[in-house]
Amino acid sequence: MANYEVFEYDVLVIGAGGSGLRAVIGAREKGASVGVVTKSLLGKAHTVMAEGGAAAALGNYDKEDNWKVHFRDTMRGGKFLNNWRTVEIFAKEAPDRILELERYGAVFDRTPEGLISQRAFGGHAYRRLAHVGDRTGLELIRTLQDHAVRLGMEVHMETTLTRLLKDGDRIIGAVGYRRGDGSIVIFRGKAVVLATGGWGRMFRYTSNSWESTGDGLVMAYEAGAVLKDVEFMQFHPTGMIWPPGMRGVLVTEGVRGEGGILRNSKGERFMFNHVPEFYRAETAETPEEAARWVEDKKNNRRPPELLPRDVVARAIYKEVKEGRGSEHGGVYLDISHKGEAYIKKKLPSMYDQFLHLGDVDITKQPMEVYPTVHYAMGGVDTEPEECKTSLRGLFACGEVACGLHGANRLGGNSLTDLLVFGRRAGEAAAEFAKTEGHPETPMDQVEEEVELLMRPLQGGDGENPYTIQSELQEAMQEGAMIARTEESLKQTLDKILELQRRANDIRVAGSPAFNPGWNAARDTLYMLISSELIVRAALERKESRGSHWRLDYPNEDEFWSKHNITVRKGENGEPVIEPRPVPEMPEELKKILEEGA
Ligand code: FUM
Repeated sequence: MANYEVFEYDVLVIGAGGSGLRAVIGAREKGASVGVVTKSLLGKAHTVMAEGGAAAALGNYDKEDNWKVHFRDTMRGGKFLNNWRTVEIFAKEAPDRILELERYGAVFDRTPEGLISQRAFGGHAYRRLAHVGDRTGLELIRTLQDHAVRLGMEVHMETTLTRLLKDGDRIIGAVGYRRGDGSIVIFRGKAVVLATGGWGRMFRYTSNSWESTGDGLVMAYEAGAVLKDVEFMQFHPTGMIWPPGMRGVLVTEGVRGEGGILRNSKGERFMFNHVPEFYRAETAETPEEAARWVEDKKNNRRPPELLPRDVVARAIYKEVKEGRGSEHGGVYLDISHKGEAYIKKKLPSMYDQFLHLGDVDITKQPMEVYPTVHYAMGGVDTEPEECKTSLRGLFACGEVACGLHGANRLGGNSLTDLLVFGRRAGEAAAEFAKTEGHPETPMDQVEEEVELLMRPLQGGDGENPYTIQSELQEAMQEGAMIARTEESLKQTLDKILELQRRANDIRVAGSPAFNPGWNAARDTLYMLISSELIVRAALERKESRGSHWRLDYPNEDEFWSKHNITVRKGENGEPVIEPRPVPEMPEELKKILEEGA
């Protein structure tokens, strides 16, 4: 142990995105000492890429809005696979967390009356997203970071944690390395909060940044945590498609929220042809609901471009597949009718992004867009009240956790998720730490991980980690993207298993110091394992629901109104996937769903 640096905290937070920083604040307010470890730099977490806003039923424009409508929209959008209690807490607490963020210093756009401005987004019945132009994630991170720094925390930047440490069934810390000099570092935490975000880098085209390789998901899985519904990956309808180097970069839903219209190569506003029964007046469950849909349509409050993301992404895929795509294989998204001044005020990043990266002036020309891998709805199963995982001492919040979003997340719900459950996780971890000590560091686990980390440096010829990553991305893009079949998934799984075998022989030159190739070697293992988990769960779910679209099982199947639970408990440590029923919803919540908005 003398060779390794060791740090000790009441609460160890892994990840410095929105949920990690809100957990830090929660834990510090309860008096815990807190260390936060980030693979990246403070202020550069993937949260900054959430552009359009944070959803909360503040009712600043639409007075009819309230937590019940937000609850109903979120459950409907998630195809009822959401944990209803998680959604209830979320919808009730969302307004308080947004107002708290404002008190911390977030500078939101304002209504003419000086309230926080709210914009429309897909699947939300009312204008609900508090926003800062199209840079909301950036403002959220800036504000939380300032506040957390004031409360005091120790930050370890550019440090990748690669394995959770266990004492029996309890998580007591983690081990990893500093990306700069490659030195091994051990963190001891009486409680550990996993806030590592999502995983999208195993696909060729994604809005996710380089950090999103699935470390947190896989660390939890390898430690024995229960995972839930990992087959559900969100394909955001609008990523850039041109120029090729920019493909996958997010085009915020805020464009459609501010009135952007989708058209195919024939100039048709094609989304009108893709409104599912579920959202049509004629199939509404009550006359009031039907009347509202008609009214909304008249007021253009819920244009078809603002249907939930799974619906819009599938529609774009079909338009392109059926030969009505744009020049570069996407569709057109046009906001130019809103005028230059409005666009520059409400969507400044989009204006710059397209002008400088795509040579397109969106105040005059349409954008070209296509679905891009954006978000993981599944993840580490957490209970709603305190974000406890199935492992003692391990709490999870933000994208790595699973419970809130069901089969499809509504845009804008993730930023608020970070605030609501980051706070709960941080506070609960601090309380847990009050009653626990620091067990001895399990050096056998540390040495096992160090051996795995150093293996690629042992010299000789072998596999290049970047080649393996590239082949994996190709396979996942082809076989596990938006439209899946048994055959495509089986082929993808075969390829993943082949790549896993080859990954045992990854070799890189040099030493651990300043060696991105060596860093990539460990990341590759996470990408391979998380891909395997996604594809195996996708094979199990023989239906289409939310973001999981099976061409060979095109309908929702009542049998599958269930969770897919993944645990590492096979004879050889392989994943075992089992269905688990969704817990019965209490009558008062059922009534909210039945009542309509
Ligand atoms: O489109 C967006 O601005 C993304 C927001 C989100 O995923 O919540």
